[in-house]
Amino acid sequence: MISRRGLALLVAIMGGASVMPVFSYAKDTSVAPVSHKQVTLPRVLVLATGGTISGKADTRSAIGYDAGAVTGAQLIAGVPGVEKLAVLQVEQISNIASQNMNNQVWFKLAERIRRAFANNEADAVVITHGTDTMEETAFFLDAVIGDARPVILTGAMRPSTAISADGPANMYEAVKVAADPQARGRGVLVVLNDEVHSARGVSKMHTTALQTFHSPNLGPVGYVDPASVRFVAPARSQQHLDLPADHKLPRVQIVYAHADMDAQQIDDAVKDGARGIVIAGMGDGNVSTDALAGVERATKAGVVVVRSTRVGNGFVNRDVEVDDDHYGLVASMDLNPQKARILLQLLLANGKTSAADIQNAFSATL
Ligand code: DGL
Repeated sequence: MISRRGLALLVAIMGGASVMPVFSYAKDTSVAPVSHKQVTLPRVLVLATGGTISGKADTRSAIGYDAGAVTGAQLIAGVPGVEKLAVLQVEQISNIASQNMNNQVWFKLAERIRRAFANNEADAVVITHGTDTMEETAFFLDAVIGDARPVILTGAMRPSTAISADGPANMYEAVKVAADPQARGRGVLVVLNDEVHSARGVSKMHTTALQTFHSPNLGPVGYVDPASVRFVAPARSQQHLDLPADHKLPRVQIVYAHADMDAQQIDDAVKDGARGIVIAGMGDGNVSTDALAGVERATKAGVVVVRSTRVGNGFVNRDVEVDDDHYGLVASMDLNPQKARILLQLLLANGKTSAADIQNAFSATL
């Protein structure tokens, strides 16, 4: 039985292209009017750590600036409309340039986020942070938070006083992603410059450009535009490692490989008490023959050695140009040296000491 509305539409369509279909909606009194209930905004906890997003310069185009001169609350006040996205609570965790980021701030952040989620104080967290070490903080938190609720890091490449400062837009977008239900279960994310990146994939790849963050191996997981938040990658589970109760992470040193390389840096790292060494290798994670002898000495001394690469793109795979099985080495897969260092620290702190167990962990969350 065709309804009156369907009939009107049918007649309009059959009437030929010249007749615009007229949708006649009979007033259907059986449907209750839409109740315009007050929309409940998500609660977003903003944790400010410093960085250029809260930086100030003497003039609007000054090159130098003081990172961390503006508080988180002042930051939020400079982002019109953000209050329509979420109910915001701002706390100042630190106010440092992120080249000074350290384990103490990391543990403070991790424990504050865990507490906020455990006590149901927030539905999501946004962290404002310098861009120099943002990828490291994101990766560390991604490994230890272990909660489906969004944790989003954002920052800026220009100080808040610069011409066309990028901080306010990045802050707005970070809150927008944090407030979006699609962001759940994706691990820690980095949002800047209209892009959403995973903690595992993202890296700072330009010294000054606004579009400095890229995920060379995994690509962006989503995009933000004035109309929407779009995710283009499936949510991935993140591995969860415990925070060391003593708030200490074992010493893991990064050794940068280069032409004419000897084993001095590696021998020195072992002498300095490193429990792990990450090689920022040439090409596919390579070192010279002399340096490889140093690697063998290190593994025999009980130091775990991970081969990563200085190249910044591509995967370091096992047993290609280096016989990892023979030397008992770990291949970093897609992780750059600075992230490989963090993962190795956390694995060692969680009692993983065999190269086999550590390799499994490096390969597990791909
Ligand atoms: N000093 C750098 C930092 O705090 C500036 C980079 C930035 O935040 O954009 O990471």
